[in-house]
Amino acid sequence: MYGNDIPEQPGHARLLDEVAAAERDLTGRGLGGDGTEGGADDYFGAVIAADGKIEPRDEMPEAYRKSLIRQIAQHAHSEIIGMQPEGNWISRAPSLKRKAILLAKVQDEAGHGLYLYAAAETLGVDRADLYEMLLDGRQKYSSIFNYPTLTWADVGAIGWLVDGAAIVNQVPLCRCSYGPYARAMIRVCKEESFHQRQGYEILHVLANGSPEQKAMAQDAIDRWWYPSLAMFGPPDTDSTHSAQSMAWKIKRFSNDELRQKFVDMTVQQAEVLGLSLPDPDLRLGEDGHWAYTQPDYDELFTVIKGDGPCNRQRIEHRRAAWEDGAWVREAATAYAKKREGATV
Ligand SMILES: [Fe+2]
Ligand SMILES: [Fe+2]
Repeated sequence: MYGNDIPEQPGHARLLDEVAAAERDLTGRGLGGDGTEGGADDYFGAVIAADGKIEPRDEMPEAYRKSLIRQIAQHAHSEIIGMQPEGNWISRAPSLKRKAILLAKVQDEAGHGLYLYAAAETLGVDRADLYEMLLDGRQKYSSIFNYPTLTWADVGAIGWLVDGAAIVNQVPLCRCSYGPYARAMIRVCKEESFHQRQGYEILHVLANGSPEQKAMAQDAIDRWWYPSLAMFGPPDTDSTHSAQSMAWKIKRFSNDELRQKFVDMTVQQAEVLGLSLPDPDLRLGEDGHWAYTQPDYDELFTVIKGDGPCNRQRIEHRRAAWEDGAWVREAATAYAKKREGATV
């Protein structure tokens, strides 16, 4: 079967075990909190304290609701904008097998967007409004998707590093305090794990191919390494949303903790691939963690603000897709109205 003929990746199975454990806890616990009596605020506090799940029907502080909408919408936008850099290679994939795999992967990302917009809608927002906020820049998406995909090896580097960083970020969200988000994340993480594995496999094949192929793989890693590290967000000292998100148990680990986990895992995997990470200062410390060079956070903020290499292109493409799809939305609305009329 695809992907089974390549070496195991250190650390990868452990992430999937964490997802499985979160899923067991979720189904074992049932919906809602621990049934604590009391006012709405007390109920919310009690559910959070007991590590329960807040559900759409539950009263929740307005700030919690708003913070979740911001985070889930940003996540949903990232999934669908993230289809573009790799979609760029579907027509140029080097074989029919590679094309089929990449098509399935890009389609998965559309599905992730769908789960997440649906999760956001349980908080009382309309996905059309979220979409508008993406298009006019009021809501963001992950800065990583503003970098170009220059060669086929970039598809491998994105799968290995970008989907890999996404999993490390998202596995703890399987235990997020908001039920619909946690449940969406369990499914997303299982699929992301497959994406990460396909990227690793592409790089493994290239790394063991001709010298030119190996050089192409190394060049892609050199370009994607630091933007991938930046995916975890600013350092803890500059992170504005972290403390409150941790108190609400939306977030479980800090940006720097997750970044370290990713570095530790990836250094070992790079060794198996026989490729190197572009950081001459990587050192294994006595605490068992790898010391590494921080990404350029000024560049991260420049890209977040809209001045990355591909920001304009990504949003223009998205806007064109939205406008081209207007007739589908109109037809669906007209059809729904007609059915409504028929049943009254
Ligand atoms: Fe995804
Ligand atoms: Fe993915």
